[in-house]
Amino acid sequence: MTSESSHELAPRAAACDLIEAALARRAGLDEAQTTGAFTRLEGRDRAFARALALATLRHLGMVDRILAPKLQREPPARIRTLLRLGATQAFFLDVPEFAAVTTTVDLADARKETKAFKGLVNAVLRGLLRDGKPALDPAALAPDWLYARWRSAFGDEDAAAIALTIAAEPATDLTPRDPDDVAALAEALPAEILPGGTLRTALRGDVATWPAFEDGRWWVQDAAAAIPTRLLHVKAGETALDLCAAPGGKTMQMAAAGAKVVAVDRSAPRLKRVTENLARIGSGAEIVAADAGAWQDERTFDAVLLDAPCTATGTFRRHPDVLWAARPTDIASLAAVQSRLLDAAADKTKPGGRLVYCVCSLEPEEGEAQVRAFLARRTDFKLVPVEPGEGGAPAASVTAEGMLRILPHHIPGGADGFFAARLVKAP
Ligand SMILES: C[S@@+](CC[C@H](N)C(=O)[O-])C[C@H]1O[C@@H](n2cnc3c(N)ncnc32)[C@H](O)[C@@H]1O
Repeated sequence: MTSESSHELAPRAAACDLIEAALARRAGLDEAQTTGAFTRLEGRDRAFARALALATLRHLGMVDRILAPKLQREPPARIRTLLRLGATQAFFLDVPEFAAVTTTVDLADARKETKAFKGLVNAVLRGLLRDGKPALDPAALAPDWLYARWRSAFGDEDAAAIALTIAAEPATDLTPRDPDDVAALAEALPAEILPGGTLRTALRGDVATWPAFEDGRWWVQDAAAAIPTRLLHVKAGETALDLCAAPGGKTMQMAAAGAKVVAVDRSAPRLKRVTENLARIGSGAEIVAADAGAWQDERTFDAVLLDAPCTATGTFRRHPDVLWAARPTDIASLAAVQSRLLDAAADKTKPGGRLVYCVCSLEPEEGEAQVRAFLARRTDFKLVPVEPGEGGAPAASVTAEGMLRILPHHIPGGADGFFAARLVKAP
């Protein structure tokens, strides 16, 4: 029997574990990277295992579609994972077809419970190769239920464009601490400057080794994720509240602008990252571990940001697992949490103060519907429409009501899907 611990097989076996964890539960992919076979890999093999798992998750719907006619009955779960990994390597990664097949057959051979299926694995993968590389079909890239939702919310054309961004591996976006530093950083990294001042770089690997990281002159933040905070136009000396702050991308934006920031999050371990991130960029904030909906504090703030917990369906470019781990029932339960947190955020806003509500979700219940319901019950707030181009907001993302619905293809080269709305409290 072949051994899973060989140099060729160990990262691939770990990738299978990551894929299975990602599909089994929300946050499973992150958890699986702190336990099991993955943690026993060396640095380069770790990166390879992760890349294999992410590529498989990015093409999961497509691969399952081409596997369907090759399988007369559902194989054991590990065999399906192996077939998914093998097909992804053969068609969507730079792995020679021969190596994609033999390593997958060897992985089947390496375990007692899958050994009997190695002939099936070989036959199915060779059959796929004979058929040739499949053309990407948007409808096959996302889970059916989510694709149907996107079609009904945004129309056929946008749903297809959203889904096509699932398969593409994204570049890395950075926010400069000082907007005036953007040109120098673009040259040093190197990076492209996007509208709004985000830097987009093709650099890969450990960000801590990239130019100017140690000096804290930038932090990693998706181009779309950087826009909601800019809509607050926070000024030096103002008080600002970030109600779901960790790991601190938006806190850093407000602190770097010179505001006195209070950063609240209910997760103490995640707040540690906010403190570390702020220290690296030479800024600070008051850090509070609390449920934002139950936090007892008398203060009110000039600017309040609520980046609420959500289904995160907009983040599939970097986290393709969210698409497959999300369940239809998550939307209503998270919308209820968001509504409670939005009321708390409203109470913490000073008379005349600004409030930005945002989520990295593509689902209208967590965005437009949430804000409409809020405006209906809180007549002390008004929507202040976002201007096209404001803070880097793509014109195509500004809705008729003046809310911001950033679809992943609205920013050339792709970005997270994000929703944001800006509100102002009556003086
Ligand atoms: C979308 S993330 C925030 C990302 C962050 N704003 C940034 O830009 O880096 C959502 C955060 O909400 C926190 N969270 C969830 N429910 C919460 C609650 N009831 N009160 C406070 N924080 C909460 C989670 O711990 C998580 O860190």
